[in-house]
Amino acid sequence: MAHQKPLPLILLSIIPLFFILTQAQSPTAPAPAPAGPIDIFAILKKEGQYNTFIKFLNESQVGNQINNQVNNSNQGMTVLAPSDNAFNNLPSGTLNQLNDQQKVQLILNHVIPKFYTFDDLQTVSNPVRTQATGPKGEPFGLNFTGNNNQVNVSSGSVVTNIYNAIRKDPPLAVYQLDKVLVPSEFTDPKAPSSDDAPAPAKAKNGTSGDKTTADEPSPASSTKPNDAKRISGGILGLICGVFLMGTLS
Ligand SMILES: *[C@@H]1O[C@H](CO)[C@@H](O)[C@H](O)[C@H]1NC(C)=O
Ligand SMILES: *[C@@H]1O[C@H](CO)[C@@H](O)[C@H](O)[C@H]1NC(C)=O
Ligand SMILES: *[C@@H]1O[C@H](CO)[C@@H](O)[C@H](O)[C@H]1NC(C)=O
Ligand SMILES: *[C@@H]1O[C@H](CO)[C@@H](O)[C@H](O)[C@H]1NC(C)=O
Ligand SMILES: *[C@@H]1O[C@H](CO)[C@@H](O)[C@H](O)[C@H]1NC(C)=O
Repeated sequence: MAHQKPLPLILLSIIPLFFILTQAQSPTAPAPAPAGPIDIFAILKKEGQYNTFIKFLNESQVGNQINNQVNNSNQGMTVLAPSDNAFNNLPSGTLNQLNDQQKVQLILNHVIPKFYTFDDLQTVSNPVRTQATGPKGEPFGLNFTGNNNQVNVSSGSVVTNIYNAIRKDPPLAVYQLDKVLVPSEFTDPKAPSSDDAPAPAKAKNGTSGDKTTADEPSPASSTKPNDAKRISGGILGLICGVFLMGTLS
């Protein structure tokens, strides 16, 4: 009789202990390290207005390249991210003129293999190399001009203001763009770069600017007028439209 009472007592004390131990084992497993690798997709997704750029980063594999490169380079990186509005504001039909290779170069023209703070951008020496290259491997450059805490960036055919840092911690800086930086190289691909006077491609009756305008009605668009730029107007429009159609399909 005296033996019967202690047994349940022992059980009663063991069972909760057992319960606690088993319970403790599963949830205690440490969660994946919170500070994971930098993910350009996650950074842009969180902002909610970069769906087109995300799509192109994904399709072109450039997004993965950025994620790998930012991890492995000691220079860091800077990404200029055109908003959905920037893509929407491209004249329709323009991007259709780009082959797949050029689409990749267009995206790469927004990727700089070095980390730049906003202050850096105001004083950086131009041109700044992007990761885009021409057919001969020549790098495409961007010009940055800074003044009074303002920074403009120019691809030659497109100029826009940089005012919003989406991410500013090394090794990756990400800035918002309200325009797509279409390389001026796309507008005049056949002319040798050394050629001083590229013949305006048979401009019809001086109406070359009638269909599309390269410069959006933003005050940031004023570029030096010259022949190449005027030609670029129409082509730029075409280039951009192709891109847009791609995103819509
Ligand atoms: C990239 O595209 C693939 C295939 O369409 C899709 O499954 C994936 O979710 C996309 N990734 C991102 C980050 O958008
Ligand atoms: C980052 O780089 C380290 C070594 O350089 C490598 O071990 C790790 O797998 C890389 N992570 C990613 C996500 O690429
Ligand atoms: C950058 O500026 C230089 C000198 O003014 C000019 O020759 C070059 O075409 C510009 N490049 C771009 C991409 O704007
Ligand atoms: C302009 O184009 C019209 C028809 O497209 C043509 O008849 C006319 O001769 C052209 N003018 C010049 C100056 O090329
Ligand atoms: C940027 O561009 C705008 C419009 O062209 C101009 O008014 C402004 O002075 C420029 N700022 C810089 C820093 O170049």
